[in-house]
Parts: sequence; C-alpha cells; structure tokens
Amino acid sequence: MTIIDGKELAKQIKEEIAAEVAEIKNRDGKVPHLAAVLVGDDPASHSYVRSKVNSCNQCGFESTLIKKDDSITEDELLEIVRDLNENPDIDGFIVQLPLPNHIDEHKVTLAIDHRKDVDGFHPINVGRMTQGVDCYLPATPYGILQMLERYKIETSGKHCVVLGRSNIVGTPMSILLSRKAYPGNCTVTLTHSRTRDIREELLRADIIIAAIGIPEFVKDDMVKEGAVVIDVGINRVEDPSRKRGYRLVGDVDFDEVAEKCSHITPVPGGVGPMTVTSLLKNTLKAARKEVYS
Ligand code: GUN
Repeated sequence: MTIIDGKELAKQIKEEIAAEVAEIKNRDGKVPHLAAVLVGDDPASHSYVRSKVNSCNQCGFESTLIKKDDSITEDELLEIVRDLNENPDIDGFIVQLPLPNHIDEHKVTLAIDHRKDVDGFHPINVGRMTQGVDCYLPATPYGILQMLERYKIETSGKHCVVLGRSNIVGTPMSILLSRKAYPGNCTVTLTHSRTRDIREELLRADIIIAAIGIPEFVKDDMVKEGAVVIDVGINRVEDPSRKRGYRLVGDVDFDEVAEKCSHITPVPGGVGPMTVTSLLKNTLKAARKEVYS
C-alpha cells in the first residue's frame, strides 16, 4: 500500500512554480498576481484562503485579499468582481465559496471574466473542459489528475466511482476521468444522494474519488482489494483532546480502508495541498496568457 503524499508533491510543484515565476520576473519585470475575495466568517473558508495566500507568497506571486463582512449585498459583491475583471494588475481571481444565502453564487460566477477565472467555475471554462479544449481546470480535480500522473497510476480501462456530484469536484472529476487522455479513459460511475446502493457501486471501483462531505463515510467493506482511493473530504470533527477542539478527517475511514488499497491519500496532507498548487498553476497560465490572449 502506498500513501500518496500530497504535501510533499505540492512542495515539489511549488518549487517548480517558484522557478518559473523567477524566470518571468527576470524577463518581464512582473510576477503573477492572484486576488481572492472572502465573504463572511466561515472558519474553514478563512483557513483555505489563508493557505492560498501563503502559497502565493512562497512561490513569489503577488496576492491581494479582499475580505468582506457577510452583510455585503449581492450588488456590492458584483461591483468588486467587475473591478477585478477590469484591473490590469490582476491576472486571475477567485471568490471563495460558499457565499451567504442572500447572494446568488451562480450570478457571481457568471460575472467573473472567464479569462481571469482561475477556479475554472465559469460556464465557458466548464464547457471547454467538457469538450477537451484548453481552459482553466477546476483546482481540486486538476490536483487529483496531477497526483495520479506523478504516481504513475494506470487509469485506462479502469472503473472509477465518484462519490458526490458537486460542481466543484464530483461532476468535473467524472468528466475529466472519462475523457480520452491520460489520466482518463476510465469508465466512470457518478454516485449521489439518490444512488440506490452506494456500497454495491463502490465495490466495483478500481479508483474511488470520495467527495461526499460525510466524515469517514467509506468503510473497508465498501472497497475492493487493490483499489486506488482518493479522499477529497476535509471534515472537522469535535475532539476535546486537541488544543483547537477539533481534528480533520476525510470522507474515508483511513485506518479501516488503507490496508485494502494499492494507493490512498491521507487527510490532511493529501488532496488539500494539491488543490492550492493547481490554483497557482492556473494563475501562472493566466499571467502568461497561455489559455486566452
Ligand atoms: N470552496 C471550496 N473549494 C473551493 C474552490 O476550489 N474555490 C472556491 N472559490 N471556493 C471553494
């Protein structure tokens, strides 16, 4: 059994990105610039955005963090998005999700200039991804593809079962793993809350992508011997023995499942750090105008 070390892989990728940033700086005198908009006080969102900004600094990017109270109106947020769209100093930006209930996430996503949409959430980028045209891939699926590639995991002809159909992870992952490419060429089953027997589906999987948001949902009796298990979940569960009062667990019961797998990602230190490096890769592409001129 191999534990896929996302933290170490992300460190290597960040070194590669930093070297490219230094080269661009030498040549053009400018560095990639990512902006992040963070609304409200959700602790998990604050932690993710902090990690994105810190990684920018580690790689020599410029970063701008715009923090707003959750009393912000939809119009005010749309105005911030328009300003970022028009600001020539910003190469790419993200609006951290989820947004408060009174703001329509879809409207905000649509308002982002697709050329600066380094999250890959705008329908133009999603459509291009679906058709296999160059675009910004959503960060978590992009990070998972890189893990599979760098660990040389065979995907062609494999049966992949994705748990969860979110726009951010499950749905794009199912599209990317079924495309004619490496990593890809899988036969994909996308499971969700209406799936009749998730255990039965999972038992057929050579590759499991767990993105369901339920702590330790996947148990050993749901996993075939030798499966590759990618755990996207980052769930906070109460733990009074920890100083901060909680610990992080994935959607997979790691201790039960690990022994059955050929490869498995841990939580923390698996998919999470790869998501951040993928966002940086997209921002680098934006700064170089690789996808859109
Ligand atoms: N919320 C959870 N994951 C993400 C992400 O990748 N991007 C944004 N903008 N919000 C998120």
